[in-house]
Amino acid sequence: MSNKKIPIYVFNNNESKIVLSDEEIYAIETEKKKYAHARAVVIEALKIVQKKRGWISDQAIFAISKILKISISDIEGIATFYSQIFRQPVGKHIIRYCDSVVCYINGYESIVKEITKILKIQPGETTEDGIFTLLPVCCLGNCDKSPTLMINNKTYNCVKSNQIQFLLEKY
Ligand code: FES
Repeated sequence: MSNKKIPIYVFNNNESKIVLSDEEIYAIETEKKKYAHARAVVIEALKIVQKKRGWISDQAIFAISKILKISISDIEGIATFYSQIFRQPVGKHIIRYCDSVVCYINGYESIVKEITKILKIQPGETTEDGIFTLLPVCCLGNCDKSPTLMINNKTYNCVKSNQIQFLLEKY
C-alpha cells in the first residue's frame, strides 16, 4: 500500500479532530470508485470504520461525510437506521434478541430476563468488563425457529431460558 496515493484529509469537528487511518481512507476511496453515486458507499464506509474502531463516533460521521461529500445528517440518518452500525461503544460480544411478535408469543421475555439476571445489565447496556452488549432487534428473520438469539454472527434457534448460562459460557 505504501506506493498508493492516499488523499490528505484533515477533519476538524469543533472541539475535536480526527484523522482516519490511511487504510480506512484508502478502503473508503476504493469503494467510492466502484459506484456512480457516493451515497451508495455510505454503509460500506461505516462498516470499514466500525471494523477498525468498534463503533461509529460523531467524529467518524464527520470524517466520512468529508470523504464522501455527503451531509453529516444524511450519514447520521443511515448510521442510525441500521442496527448493525453502533453509535456508541459496545462490548466484545454482541447479544441480539428479537422482540417482535412471534418471538414474543414464543417467550423471548424469559430469555431476556435470564440474560439480564446473569450479566447484570439491561437491554442496550454493556457489562462492566466490556465483554457483552445486549441489544433488542426487530425480527432476526428466523421466526419459524423462535425465540431467536444472535451472539455476534451466530444464530441460536428455539432458545430456552435454561440454556442461557451454557450459551454465555461459550464466549
Ligand atoms: S419475530 Fe423473532 S425472528 Fe422474526
